[in-house]
Amino acid sequence: MSERKRILTGIRPTGALHLGHYAGALENWIRLQKEYDCHFLIADYQVSDYADNLERVRESVWEVALDWLAVGLDPEESCFVIESLVPEHAELTTWLSWFLPLGMLQRNPTLKSEMADFGKKSVPVAFFTYPVMQVGNILMPRANVVPVGEDQLPHIEMTRELARRFNRQFKEVFPEPEGLVGRVPRLVGLDGQAKMSKSLNNTIQLKDDSDTVAQKVRGMFTDPTRLRATDPGHVEGNPVFMYHDAFNPNVDEVNDLKERYLHGQVGDVEVKQKLTTALNNLLDPFRERRSYYETHLDEVRDALESGTARARVVARETMELVRDAMGINYLNDPPRGADRATPNS
Ligand code: TRP
Repeated sequence: MSERKRILTGIRPTGALHLGHYAGALENWIRLQKEYDCHFLIADYQVSDYADNLERVRESVWEVALDWLAVGLDPEESCFVIESLVPEHAELTTWLSWFLPLGMLQRNPTLKSEMADFGKKSVPVAFFTYPVMQVGNILMPRANVVPVGEDQLPHIEMTRELARRFNRQFKEVFPEPEGLVGRVPRLVGLDGQAKMSKSLNNTIQLKDDSDTVAQKVRGMFTDPTRLRATDPGHVEGNPVFMYHDAFNPNVDEVNDLKERYLHGQVGDVEVKQKLTTALNNLLDPFRERRSYYETHLDEVRDALESGTARARVVARETMELVRDAMGINYLNDPPRGADRATPNS
């Protein structure tokens, strides 16, 4: 198809995407899709509460595809892939599991903290092993680059390690992929918590309308030490200013607001109004494209279907390479020796 280097990256279908996804990942994907042959994966095998939420997974597969189209990912340029419709991902995961020591999985810091989030609920086996599948996802198209959020870096490290082990033991099949973190590796939540996350209910969704954005920004956590507009305020660590830095392209305006805020010369209301305007300017074109696709779901379906089909061709190729390298293409490889060739003589 092309000589372009390959990217694979993915998202779990757990709901509509938010600004954290955009600044940490999607923005990079949009930029990179022209330069690389991109596979964007909807990782439906890897949803942490899969068994209890099939209905939500089903809806979210479409939500994610709509958000991707809305932000400007191009399904003709890149493959939109539904993971479980390329069952080779499950197959590769099984082989790879043999080359991954249990301890390496148990020490993975991202997995550890996600498992802690289960609290008293039991952890499904498939969740514990999802990083192995993620390794498989990345190796499947023999990707060179993996643009992800910062929390995903341990999984990329594991991918590199497994690729090295496989190549050393058998044959050079897999490139060692590089992780690439977005401009804002971790976006704070509206409430000032460390991370914007659907489960913390502190997000602005890419599909939120302008009134919803205005209302959410009005309620944002800001400098708690500041009681009046004339009090000198804190800019450092203030989520409202972090969002200005992340999303307001008008640097002069942001610097002027910071200056006045520090000296008690501007109220939170004005700072927040300007943020609302900047966010709505960013989101408006997304909303427009999204509303087009919401009324043309057949095009969304085509995007998913053709991307998945193209990815499956690559997946089959990779599985052939893997089986050949491991020497387990049994049917191509009958037992050797004259005795065996003539069993009845
Ligand atoms: N685990 C990733 C997340 O939670 C999603 C994902 C699945 C992924 N497979 C991937 C990311 C492969 C990069 C590459 O965000």
